[in-house]
Amino acid sequence: MSTDRVTATTDRRLLAEDAYSNDTHLSARQKLYDFQQPTYDLPGSVLDALDARHRTVLDLGCGNGAYLHRLRSERPQTAVIGIDAAPGMLGDLPPPVLCADAARLPVKGDRIDAVLAMHMLYHLPDIDAALVEIARVLTPGGTLIASTNAEDDKRELDDLWQAAAGDVLGIDHGPRRIRLSDHFPLDAGAARLEEYFADISVHELTGHITVETPEPVLDHLGSYRTWAAQAGVPFDETLHRARERLEETITAVGAFTITTRQGLIHAQAPGQRGL
Ligand SMILES: C[S@@+](CC[C@H](N)C(=O)[O-])C[C@H]1O[C@@H](n2cnc3c(N)ncnc32)[C@H](O)[C@@H]1O
Repeated sequence: MSTDRVTATTDRRLLAEDAYSNDTHLSARQKLYDFQQPTYDLPGSVLDALDARHRTVLDLGCGNGAYLHRLRSERPQTAVIGIDAAPGMLGDLPPPVLCADAARLPVKGDRIDAVLAMHMLYHLPDIDAALVEIARVLTPGGTLIASTNAEDDKRELDDLWQAAAGDVLGIDHGPRRIRLSDHFPLDAGAARLEEYFADISVHELTGHITVETPEPVLDHLGSYRTWAAQAGVPFDETLHRARERLEETITAVGAFTITTRQGLIHAQAPGQRGL
């Protein structure tokens, strides 16, 4: 991703005041997965990875609380603290939740048994600073679970956007669409953890999203409006042309299909886990 795109997708003010001023854009992206087969229960996978020894869990970049709600309802004995840099995401979440930056956690060291960093590390301008913070707050041997998308995730969306942008600009292929996870993609992201964590494993989740109407895809593409200035093509015209292309495909073959590849990364803080 070019520097101006990385700068924009990691700009804390833009994230807090626009992209995540409320959960509209995040929800649009989450809803596209309603059309995925097979379905994956990511909060359920996190629950499976945590046991009774994980008494305190920090959900970093907790967003609209998908993980926080599940953990609190199914593990009432676990203390789950939500942290997010966008105040607008925290308003509807029950306490304890804190507005803070992942690179400066307001938590004393060696206190947290598990940190979740689900689809959020790619928003950090200095990912290493956050990894150092996560390692600092985790108990020895504590668990980090992160998630992100792979480089080739949703490639049909990339092709659709580039074709639509090309139509608008009168060229073969327009600029690539903004992809948040390009700043922390699955495989390179997991490798990046090696400097700070041990026992790193990647759990890949692949599937297909199939839609028979354009709206879920257009809502997803439209959720990147925050970064319209970095798109390199008029955003609304491109969305409009993408709708026409989607309608043509759906009329011709009955559906539009997107290949997904995302994953969970499990890692352990250095040191022996207390029993
Ligand atoms: C794509 S959402 C993911 C939300 C949630 N973890 C999930 O997977 O459903 C990314 C979240 O990270 C938050 N975030 C972005 N930068 C952050 C930072 N520097 N510190 C803490 N949270 C941040 C955003 O406000 C947003 O709520």
